[in-house]
Amino acid sequence: MDDARHGTTLDLELRWFFQTLESRLSLHFGQDTKSRRPAAPPPPDLSKEEGPYADLVKAQAFGRRERLVLALALAPHVRPALLDPLFTRNTTYDRSFSEFGGLTSPTGGFLPSLETALFLLAGDSMTERLAANRLFAPEHAFLRQNLLDLGPPDPSLTPGQRPLRPSPALLHQLLTGEAWRPRFGMHFPARRLETSMEWQDLVLNHDTRRQLGEIIAWLEHGRVVMEDWGLRRKLRPGYRAVFIGPPGTGKTLSATLLGKVTRRDVYRVDLAMVVSKFIGETEKNLESIFTQAEDRDWLLFFDEADALFGKRTGVSDAQDRFANQEVSYLLQRVEEFAGVVILATNLRDNIDDAFLRRFETVVQFALPGPEELHTLWTQGLDRCPLDRDVDLRQLSRRHRLSGGAVINVVRYCALCAVQREQPVIQLRDLEDGIRRELAKEGRTL
Ligand SMILES: Nc1ncnc2c1ncn2[C@@H]1O[C@H](COP(=O)(O)OP(=O)(O)OP(=O)(O)O)[C@@H](O)[C@H]1O
Ligand SMILES: [Mg+2]
Repeated sequence: MDDARHGTTLDLELRWFFQTLESRLSLHFGQDTKSRRPAAPPPPDLSKEEGPYADLVKAQAFGRRERLVLALALAPHVRPALLDPLFTRNTTYDRSFSEFGGLTSPTGGFLPSLETALFLLAGDSMTERLAANRLFAPEHAFLRQNLLDLGPPDPSLTPGQRPLRPSPALLHQLLTGEAWRPRFGMHFPARRLETSMEWQDLVLNHDTRRQLGEIIAWLEHGRVVMEDWGLRRKLRPGYRAVFIGPPGTGKTLSATLLGKVTRRDVYRVDLAMVVSKFIGETEKNLESIFTQAEDRDWLLFFDEADALFGKRTGVSDAQDRFANQEVSYLLQRVEEFAGVVILATNLRDNIDDAFLRRFETVVQFALPGPEELHTLWTQGLDRCPLDRDVDLRQLSRRHRLSGGAVINVVRYCALCAVQREQPVIQLRDLEDGIRRELAKEGRTL
């Protein structure tokens, strides 16, 4: 992240904010009598700017009014002196101007309230004031995305007296320069996937690895072939992949690591939440995820996507619950999506062939063979004290487990062993652990 560019963006924005504030004040005090509208300059063009502030404004397509409110909320934290003109006193009544709203901070600075924002946006125009009020409705991105923090509702305050503050999350991001990220919730049913593991930790067979390599190639060079090599006219935008494989074989981990190695955020869309809670609003919420993902180069990951691309015959519960309209919207949107989207499923048989043909890549994840299992056991246990008679090679030949099951066994054994007087993992611990994992799948040792 380039601090200098982010700093310049904030400077430009606050300078414009200050000019707008001054012209509002002069209009209010009748110094600008020729025109009714404040002669404020247009907001700076941030389309080429980078950094969290510019990213946020672009992702949310914020216009002049939203940007004035953001700058106002931000001002006390970055340029408190900008708000000093609002301390001007009303000499007629020897008090501050009620129309400016605001509070005084314990150290004497001006803290804006909603009233301050309404004054800045609307002056004394009632029509504009009503329109400006909509910025603070629960469905506006300011509150929906947790960008502003207006404090808890307080019956002793009028709405205009509520303080106007950036949310702690937004402030943190804008002050540290870390990428702005939306918060998981009703209106944004997607979570960012993270891992402390590295690409080298992935244990996969040759084919799976090669197929993931194709996705990396697209993520790293897609732009060049589309733009410079002129393929944009011939190819549809974006890249679609399906990950198919049994539970615990590394589908979610691979999607997360694809983002990590190519320095992109990966968001896992919560289909269950989409299906169950948002009848009516579903499309709008999904659309917001897709557009933000396109703008900001996220990878989108749909886990347990069977409900989406299930065969139309043999309707399951999940499909029943998923209104057809939502499914067709999603399929359409996945096809048009200009970024990388990954759908994961356990069952190849659930997928309609016609649907599969629309994907650029189908990556098969298989249960690890003895060699891969040996690597998984060795990696998992590399820093654990092992009893002398533990033979990981033999263990790998004997038991067919997924990578996820291996990790579960490792955790179980380590916890058993660490409590003992002689904290060493024994063969018996491993076998107990394996038995437990197999039992989960209805298998026996
Ligand atoms: N191929 C692998 N290489 C290394 N570790 C793995 C691998 N597969 C699984 N693991 C371990 O198991 C954990 C769970 O795997 P993951 O969640 O990626 O499985 P999945 O295929 O997404 O399963 P599900 O179908 O149940 O969602 C991983 O976080 C990792 O610790
Ligand atoms: Mg998974």
